Amino acid sequence: MSVSIDGKALAAKLRGELKEKVAAYKAERGDIGLAVVLIGEDPASQVYVRNKIKACEEVGIKSFSYHLPAETSQAEAEALVDELVASDKVHGILVQLPLPKHLNERKILARIPAAKDVDGFCAENVGNLAMNRETIVACTPFGVMKMLEEYGIDPKGKSAVVLGRSNIVGKPMAMLLLNADATVTVCHSKTKDLKDVCAAADILVVAIGRAKFVTADMVKEGAVVIDVGMDRDENGKLCGDVDFENVKDKAAYITPVPGGVGPMTITMLMYNTYIAASRR
Ligand code: GUN
Repeated sequence: MSVSIDGKALAAKLRGELKEKVAAYKAERGDIGLAVVLIGEDPASQVYVRNKIKACEEVGIKSFSYHLPAETSQAEAEALVDELVASDKVHGILVQLPLPKHLNERKILARIPAAKDVDGFCAENVGNLAMNRETIVACTPFGVMKMLEEYGIDPKGKSAVVLGRSNIVGKPMAMLLLNADATVTVCHSKTKDLKDVCAAADILVVAIGRAKFVTADMVKEGAVVIDVGMDRDENGKLCGDVDFENVKDKAAYITPVPGGVGPMTITMLMYNTYIAASRR
């Protein structure tokens, strides 16, 4: 039986520490503000945004919440972002993705300067990460690194395989592991011999959005398995990209879904907002 990495407990611990840091900042420099922009009625996005606002309250960050209708025009969305960029009260800006199809996501996000880009999505922050310089790191992969650290798992010299190449998770995850001296392989839908590549990993991070895709035959005995997935199984029950029951006895460490990576993502958003305010 493996060790289940408790993301919920670690998130609670980090939020407690952050609450103290935020309080100290506020006593000296005033409020820290995070603007959260939601456009449209995507149900999952509404839940995520609600949780982000709740987390702000928990750590003492002031949230500015904007919920615009799905018909919002490109010009209206850009005007709101511009207003938030100009505001002294706003230290971080988060535009919840995905945006409605008629909007140009790239153009909207490009208006957020690196200093307020608490998602770590912009080219400057991603470029700094690639060059292993001080930056703001995308919340989910940042949270994964914190989990590894908490459990004493040092990627140095290990073989790390990242399954998935998204800009939000896979790519920054690979760069963080590389910066931590792992030997990194990034796999995707066109990868040949995927099972064998995954089965060679000391650390396997899975972020592909396919329910229970990773099975025991894809996992090395004693590996660390990190599941970034948030999927529904055949009964509509929340599950990850890893078949937890099937894999748990083979892995040394494994993250559950729910209660693994999920709570860490929002915690790192709070952390990034604090960092953005501190660097101003
Ligand atoms: N949608 C799904 N994940 C994320 C995230 O990390 N940030 C933003 N802005 N939108 C998302």
